[in-house]
Amino acid sequence: MKETVQVKAPSNIALMKYWGKDNPVLQWPANDSLSMTLNHAHTICRVGPLDGGSDHAIKINDEVVTRASNERVFKHVDMIIKELGEEGYLQVDSRNSFPTACGLASSASGFAALTVGVFGCLKGVTYTRDMLASYSGVQKLAALARLGSGSAFRSLQGGFVWWQRGASALEQKVRQVLEPEKWLIHDFVVLFSDKPKSVSSTDAHKLAWSSPLFKPRLAGHRVRLQQTLEALKERDFRRLGMLMETEALEMHAVAMSSRPPVFYFDQEVSEFLAWLREERQRRDLPVYFTMDAGPNVHVLCESKNVHHVEALLQERFPSKQIFHDAVGRGPVIETAFLSPEL
Ligand code: DP6
Repeated sequence: MKETVQVKAPSNIALMKYWGKDNPVLQWPANDSLSMTLNHAHTICRVGPLDGGSDHAIKINDEVVTRASNERVFKHVDMIIKELGEEGYLQVDSRNSFPTACGLASSASGFAALTVGVFGCLKGVTYTRDMLASYSGVQKLAALARLGSGSAFRSLQGGFVWWQRGASALEQKVRQVLEPEKWLIHDFVVLFSDKPKSVSSTDAHKLAWSSPLFKPRLAGHRVRLQQTLEALKERDFRRLGMLMETEALEMHAVAMSSRPPVFYFDQEVSEFLAWLREERQRRDLPVYFTMDAGPNVHVLCESKNVHHVEALLQERFPSKQIFHDAVGRGPVIETAFLSPEL
């Protein structure tokens, strides 16, 4: 059975980072990670059968991509078709809700949406919706999405999501630890650069092992993750914020001390981080940052402080682009006809 489906899948921001892999083929991370699923940053992907043709017809953000220009996406589609014992070609039209150049991670939402979309096209909407609603179904879809990009694994769930690496590559699990309705956290993404990152996260994951800080990081990471889970359970935002900042700085310290080193942020960003810490202290305002593999800073706060934080950022950076997001839900299969613009 092949039918046209449309999937909306969210991006996520890691509070505890996935950095370094034990097995890059099976996408087994070196440590557990934990993220917040986002509400506005998402990908909408429509997938349908293709009659005729000699390969899949794929468009990403309105641009035709080919096997030569984006082999990773083509291989992902091939992999799922093979996994489901199907054959033939598909047409894929994928769009992000955020501009590609804005530096938000598009691979998490992109591969999550593509995976559910291809699956839905081949297995049918009802079957795939049931999978999204069941624990084992989510594990299966997430495991496929992870093979496209690790961070997509966590985008299969909403709220606060824990990627457990398990005792082997095949025992990885994705678990929602807190539903989005249970704690409304906001995320202001401050854009410092719209240039492509100097080193892709896939390449930087490999380099992590060359940093003298990486093994000490892994040795202490379980404790930090446990403390993060406690902070989430207790809705202790100041504790969560401190853990999240330490984690982001440690990830970047590993990147900067890898061989060759990877620098994702410059002096302007460092000054911003210092300014944010000062404002936090001066105003006794619980506002904290995290950063993924790029120069853009995610500034997080609870909903009770959202207007204060927004005003503070706008006053300090009137000319910077700032995306306002918040915790959100997992992927959904939409009725294709609802969004005719795709
Ligand atoms: C810094 O998921 O982009 O965002 O699995 O090679 O596609 P691949 O890497 P990717 O790595 C994300 C790294 C990070 C931290 C995180 O999301 O946990």
